[in-house]
Amino acid sequence: MDKIADIWDSVPRGAQWALGAIGALYAASWATTLLYFAMDTFLLSGTNLRKYGKKGTWAVVTGASDGLGKEFATQLASKGFNLVLVSRTQSKLDTLAKELEAKYAGVQTKTLAMDFSQDKDADYDRLAQLIKGLDVGILINNVGQSHSIPVPFLETAREELQNIVTINCLGTLKVTQVVAPLLVQRKKGLILTMGSFAGVTPTPYLATYSGSKAFLQHWNSAMAEELKSQGVDAHLVVSYLVTTAMSKIRRTSLLIPNPKQFVRAALGKIGLGAGELFPYTYTPWWSHSAFKFVVDNTVGMYSSISVWFNLRMHVDIRQRALKKAAREAKKA
Ligand SMILES: NC(=O)c1ccc[n+]([C@@H]2O[C@H](COP(=O)([O-])OP(=O)(O)OC[C@H]3O[C@@H](n4cnc5c(N)ncnc54)[C@H](OP(=O)(O)O)[C@@H]3O)[C@@H](O)[C@H]2O)c1
Repeated sequence: MDKIADIWDSVPRGAQWALGAIGALYAASWATTLLYFAMDTFLLSGTNLRKYGKKGTWAVVTGASDGLGKEFATQLASKGFNLVLVSRTQSKLDTLAKELEAKYAGVQTKTLAMDFSQDKDADYDRLAQLIKGLDVGILINNVGQSHSIPVPFLETAREELQNIVTINCLGTLKVTQVVAPLLVQRKKGLILTMGSFAGVTPTPYLATYSGSKAFLQHWNSAMAEELKSQGVDAHLVVSYLVTTAMSKIRRTSLLIPNPKQFVRAALGKIGLGAGELFPYTYTPWWSHSAFKFVVDNTVGMYSSISVWFNLRMHVDIRQRALKKAAREAKKA
């Protein structure tokens, strides 16, 4: 201790002041980041959905028949929004549409069955026809596909990588080009696009999915800046695991909410992105956000340590998935 004091005393007075000021500024900036993060995560509510429309305003939800999309549709219907439900399976869409109309008096629905992996212009034209003349205020770009199990990139089936990029990237872009002009026309609207931790930290064994979500991250931030001056808010919603068919996880835990919890947070914290690396991005679920904050401020979400950790984790998931598949094949 004495030695440190001696070294400090030997530093010229002016330099001592400069070092002290730099230290104080660093501490203040860190404390501010922590404060903003804590306020956004635990205290503040995001932009009120009413900014984007009243009861009877329409919301378009893609991937609406299951998982997070179904929950987005349900929670928007509970707030009085009419729904355009888009996904692959007509029977599932019909069941959901009936459920929503029965449960929420006055809510209207329209459905469109389309397979985004087919990338057919005719499907996007049908969507344009379906929403023509409607007061559309919200677009939820939720549709997405991941790898069936973690897989090294070089072993990824060509069809799987083609579908992931076509659905996650092209599908999202093309739906947005159809719907967003209606939001711009009424000079207010909201676009939420589902991102993922895999789009933030490069994720080995999910390389194509990871790249597709990283693509959405940059695309959203760039487009959001363009649309802001036209009254449209566009945000990327970042999520770690949620209990859905895609994650194949059934039980909730500290880090893994169910769709109801996640979507309530996503619709309640719109635009609260303190501490995010990218503009127009937020991580709504508190434990996802806390996890990201800690990693960001220690090893870093982009660091080689995080990528290595992701590799270990996904190699392990792949091995368990292959063992399970082998057990099931034996039973059959
Ligand atoms: N769950 C997670 O842990 C997690 C984490 C981070 C990000 N996300 C993202 O959140 C979004 C929703 O994921 P989720 O877990 O809710 O998925 P999910 O439970 O698998 O549901 C996917 C939905 O998308 C539809 N869909 C799938 N492929 C389609 C296609 N080719 N054409 C049209 N519709 C299609 C499905 O329709 P059908 O029912 O007709 O098949 C279903 O409605 C995705 O963008 C995903 O990347 C999820």
